[in-house]
Amino acid sequence: MPHLEENVSLRPYNTFGLAVRARYFARFGSADELRALLALPRVQATEKLVLGGGSNLLFTQDFAGVVLKNEIRGLEILSENADDATTALVRAGAGESWHGLVEYALDQQLGGLENLSLIPGTVGAAPLQNIGAYGAELRDTFERLEAVEVATGALRTFGAAECGFGYRESVFKGPLKNQFVVTAVVLRLHRQARPNVRYGAIQDTLADFGIEGEPTMHDISRAVVHIRRSKLPDPAEIGNAGSFFKNPEVSQRKFDELKTQHPAIPGYPVPGGVKVPAGWLIEQAGWKGLRRGPGAGTHGVHDRQALVLVNHGEATGHELRLLAEEIIQSVRAQFGIELHPEVNIM
Ligand code: EPU
Repeated sequence: MPHLEENVSLRPYNTFGLAVRARYFARFGSADELRALLALPRVQATEKLVLGGGSNLLFTQDFAGVVLKNEIRGLEILSENADDATTALVRAGAGESWHGLVEYALDQQLGGLENLSLIPGTVGAAPLQNIGAYGAELRDTFERLEAVEVATGALRTFGAAECGFGYRESVFKGPLKNQFVVTAVVLRLHRQARPNVRYGAIQDTLADFGIEGEPTMHDISRAVVHIRRSKLPDPAEIGNAGSFFKNPEVSQRKFDELKTQHPAIPGYPVPGGVKVPAGWLIEQAGWKGLRRGPGAGTHGVHDRQALVLVNHGEATGHELRLLAEEIIQSVRAQFGIELHPEVNIM
């Protein structure tokens, strides 16, 4: 029977490294253990937060309810399509580390996840915001997920269409928020290499590595790891939650207007408009590399990627939220564009 602890520090469980506490805390290693926890009167009576790797969260205060840490393990190739020569179905427990799953797939010579190498966090959190990077998204390989309904304990399967995936979006962030706990994810991976080098920096990095001709999935993974390490701070060294904001979309008309005032503004066409890199906007507004707080600064904006807010040690979530609000205001004032946080602010 899983054990409910009281007054637990969440510092080790959020990649910002914020020293907040949870009133109650428990771990679960299976769907049955989760169900047993959800049936406890104390758990039923309080607010619940399910934690994976804590890599997309900003705690601005102590959590007055119960934190449930998902530690469901397991990585396997399913036999249901064993005679399919082109794809394999891989099932991963929601508490597995995402990058651990990527490495498992690479070891099995299964392609499709290499562009998503080194993303922090767990497998179970990946569908919530349809994680994406370097030209790929979770939904490209997603087959289905298994989840426990919080209200009833019932196990339900969701296919891709039912997940409502969008850019950093799913039904689990929208209409079904807090209603289901993901327990496992099944992905459809490729047995034949299908290198995706659409993202320019991957091609440049492969060239720097001296790789000519068609890269292997391992080459691409190495390139992505290299790019990420060069731009993004390692949460084990500097507290952060990756991109703090989403990249905003503007209408083509608004983009043309901006282009006349700021000829260098980058933009990528998307259905219905143009996506503008928030990192560029924040850098132009003068925030990149800023440090705030006593001494050399306790928090600020990463000096190699302005989309990332960082905790240099003793920052509070409140300070980071204030900084985020100021950034939103200054980008609004300078460009008339509204930035929206990508991290969950609690
Ligand atoms: N840029 C700047 N200054 C900066 C940062 C970016 O000018 O400080 C401009 C550059 O023009 C650059 C462009 O923004 O060419 C895009 O930058 P980058 O390729 O680093 O990607 P991003 O749009 O800033 C997004 C994702 C990342 C993902 C990368 C790579 C979002 C919110 N973020 O960042 O995801 O790794 O693309 O695909 O969509 C995350 O979600 O936590 C995350 C790190």
